[in-house]
Amino acid sequence: MDVRTTLKNGLAQLREAHVPSFTLAAELLLLHVLGHDRTWLYAHPEEQLSTADNERFFALIARRAAGEPTQHLTGKQEFWGLEFEVTPDVLIPRPETEHVIEVALDRLALRELRAGRKQTLTGEGLQIADVGTGSGCIAIALAKELPGATIHATDISSPALAVAQRNAARHSVANQVHFIEGNLLHDATILFDLVVSNPPYIGRRQAKMLMREVRDHEPEIALFGGEEGYEIYGELIRQSAEHLKPGGILTLELGHNSLPAVQPLLDAPTWTNVAVTNDLAGIPRVIAAERL
Ligand SMILES: C[S@@+](CC[C@H](N)C(=O)[O-])C[C@H]1O[C@@H](n2cnc3c(N)ncnc32)[C@H](O)[C@@H]1O
Repeated sequence: MDVRTTLKNGLAQLREAHVPSFTLAAELLLLHVLGHDRTWLYAHPEEQLSTADNERFFALIARRAAGEPTQHLTGKQEFWGLEFEVTPDVLIPRPETEHVIEVALDRLALRELRAGRKQTLTGEGLQIADVGTGSGCIAIALAKELPGATIHATDISSPALAVAQRNAARHSVANQVHFIEGNLLHDATILFDLVVSNPPYIGRRQAKMLMREVRDHEPEIALFGGEEGYEIYGELIRQSAEHLKPGGILTLELGHNSLPAVQPLLDAPTWTNVAVTNDLAGIPRVIAAERL
């Protein structure tokens, strides 16, 4: 079978199984099997697939149709322009989490500006904590943006940390990012300039409403923050207050219903300059504050 027909048959199977974004999923799986990029796919519609590639592709299509996320089948996901290894042990990095990086970098730049320092921010000497690092996507993106900073990335899941460590090596920041197994910032012994986190924030009561790809395949510890979802923020904000330097910045991703529960926790006299950033869908996605 040629590339065009194979792709057509593959996406028809995914459409039938009600897979969201079925065309993209079929393309990514075919590219994964063939080891080519997208341009190649559309430049070579008549190319014949080997029997082995054909079988591998339709085996992946069957698994995707049964609910396995595409990223678990290809083993990768792009985030902040970087390719990350993903396995069922880590949350698949989401595009909206890039707002956490944007807000954190903006806040750091503003701090430099207010202090009368020059605007080229390399992060020299900065100590940064990424709480619940998962695949390491936030920690590694920040390390790439701020080559002078040291990042301390924590997670309660040791299998997740193993993936994060491989991602740090893949992006040549293994010397800049330290991985620590532990509960939030419990074991931190230093003070930070910046604490970032995308904590688990889905409510267990919402579990039934989740897509099967998420509910059945992503780690529970990465998804659920408690019965309501926002329970973890209280302890995270309390520990961040303890471990941030005066003037230090906290940047947290929010779940779609977390804002009313989280905003009151960032109050005076501990916190100032609290601001919320919406994502592209208009949902309050990131809250940032400064430690007084
Ligand atoms: C929503 S995922 C975020 C992963 C990654 N930072 C991202 O943005 O894709 C939350 C992460 O927090 C970790 N986690 C859950 N409870 C934790 C705790 N009490 N202390 C540290 N990490 C925790 C989970 O293992 C998971 O990797």
